[in-house]
Amino acid sequence: MSSSLENLGTENRKFPPTPEFAAAANAKADMYVEAKADRLAFWEKQAHALHWDKPWTQVLDWKRPFAKWFIGGRLNASYNCLDRHVIEGRGDRVAFIFEGEPGDSRTYTYAQLLIEVKKTANALIELGVKDGDRVAIYMPMIPEAAIAMLACARIGAPHSVVFGGFSADALLSRIQDADAKIVITADGGYRKGSANALKPAVDDALKGETNVKYVLVVKRTGQNVEWNAERDVWWHEIVERQSAEHTAESFDSEHGLFILYTSGTTAKPKGIYHTTGGYLTQAAFTHKNVFDLKPETDVYWCTADVGWITGHSYVVYGPLINGATQVIYEGTPDSPTKGRIFEIVEKYGVTILYTAPTLIRTWMKWGDEFPNASDLSSLRLLGSVGEPINPEAWMWYREVIGGNRCPIVDTWWQTETGAIMISPLPGVTATKPGSAMGAIPGISAAVIDDNANVVGNGGGGYLALTQPWPSMLRGIWGEPERYQETYWSRYDEAGYYFAGDGAKLDDDGAIWLLGRVDDVMNVSGHRISTTEVESALVSHVAVAEAAVVGANDAMTGQAIAAFVILRGGIPNVGGEELIQELRNHVAKEIGPIAKPKQILVVAELPKTRSGKIMRRLLRDVAENRAVGDSTTLADPNVMKLIQAGLNAGSSED
Ligand code: WTA
Repeated sequence: MSSSLENLGTENRKFPPTPEFAAAANAKADMYVEAKADRLAFWEKQAHALHWDKPWTQVLDWKRPFAKWFIGGRLNASYNCLDRHVIEGRGDRVAFIFEGEPGDSRTYTYAQLLIEVKKTANALIELGVKDGDRVAIYMPMIPEAAIAMLACARIGAPHSVVFGGFSADALLSRIQDADAKIVITADGGYRKGSANALKPAVDDALKGETNVKYVLVVKRTGQNVEWNAERDVWWHEIVERQSAEHTAESFDSEHGLFILYTSGTTAKPKGIYHTTGGYLTQAAFTHKNVFDLKPETDVYWCTADVGWITGHSYVVYGPLINGATQVIYEGTPDSPTKGRIFEIVEKYGVTILYTAPTLIRTWMKWGDEFPNASDLSSLRLLGSVGEPINPEAWMWYREVIGGNRCPIVDTWWQTETGAIMISPLPGVTATKPGSAMGAIPGISAAVIDDNANVVGNGGGGYLALTQPWPSMLRGIWGEPERYQETYWSRYDEAGYYFAGDGAKLDDDGAIWLLGRVDDVMNVSGHRISTTEVESALVSHVAVAEAAVVGANDAMTGQAIAAFVILRGGIPNVGGEELIQELRNHVAKEIGPIAKPKQILVVAELPKTRSGKIMRRLLRDVAENRAVGDSTTLADPNVMKLIQAGLNAGSSED
């Protein structure tokens, strides 16, 4: 397990909520008691917070590993996010405050957002999209991204959002896997002070074999785009002329809401499939209770991009169902200055901020002068997600950003879980810096050993989820066996869901997450598979073999380190140039987030006699540690060779 996390779980500081916060909190301690007494009745009660066109007849149908929630119930996700607020008199409330990177801003009330979504739904219908059709969305972080998602949901077409930082190849494989009929994109978006093109990646992707009929293009930057008149449609042209009337149809509780791809332990990403009723129930419940949302007064800001699950559950569905007013920001945190996020907090009076440890550590590195230059006194609650937060970063977040006033909720969950699973309740839990504390009401988590025995306090092992939950994935798109195999086969007898994370219970029973235990890296809170990067590397003509590991990194949690063997006859002359080329090749194959930080050219890889690469030894090298026990290697000299050649071919941006 990574060394910076070794001391986790020995923390004695505790931060209980203030009596004022506790008294006013949405969630009180009795919620745990209630959920424990009757878990299904508890979730049934939470589901009543949604508007259902037809009630369910059964709460849960569980035929492991396949779950159905709120069976027979019918509802519309977009109606729950929008129409309902307008009908109930909240149409004038601001839903989105959009801040563009160049400093432009726009607001949408719930009534305005509803009109945009209805028109976009009508445009999709005109383009032939029907319920059940898949729509790929490849967008910058602009309001139209959320509008596109809601328009799809409104007409029952599952969306597949592909993060705008992924390459054309990555986009193509996702379009093909989901067999998307339409792609929604933009000419580009603003990033780091300039217009960053997106449309060319779509054009490139669609040179591959797909069933995409139309590409709907938002004009954001006004940059030049190539145009395929038969296929491409400007958003503003088609959407603007649509009727602002559209009646949301109701769909079955188990109707597909979206597919979102995430890295697995093989080169092929998994299309995590979510449906409607259970997902929305848990997204809304957790958003209201973990963030203590008071929709009339809070200004909520989750910094995630809609390309990730956090953007789905805590920018789009959870907050809108709860009638939140929220900030959406297009750009990077350092554009034009390292104080940009704090300036936005002050400008809009943000009260709830939800972000990732990697950004918190970056802020720490940049220095306190940036947050100190803005008035952050509007903040009242802080959240963290995506990777383990180290106690130092937690304390800094609390002191410098939260002014020692704001409770911190460290929330553990996954693309697969759909919504928050482990987190403090801010008005109840005495938090410890670096711990996600415990399962929220209605959720059953355990730390178990290899044999699925639950470990006691003070013990460590793997995180498992022991009961089905409403927002759980319903499967991997088109791969039912892989679904069973990946999550359910390891603890088949016990019937537990295997999360792939290491965890530890401290003496009080608080849960400490320790990072992935499989071949998935977590770089800046983004999941990247080692095999995916390896297969990108070996697809380059110069590479014969590659092994990739996640090395500890003070800033990004993990950083990608690659060890490559070049093909015979390709000498590593001008090594540095080739290494740059390999890094760019990975960026082209997957996306810039997957670029290895270090690439080492080696003559051999450390393998056991059965041919398995010993990544542990490679991690030792990448982290500049003395190499551990290598006696089981087929050729014990390999590690000496690798270390001798260490300075020969290392590279970094
Ligand atoms: C990690 C992001 C520690 C974990 C919502 C998980 C965390 C993976 C935390 C899922 C946290 C997420 N503490 N680790 N609070 N939150 N993780 O699918 O390894 O992008 O399995 O979902 O991120 O990443 P994903």
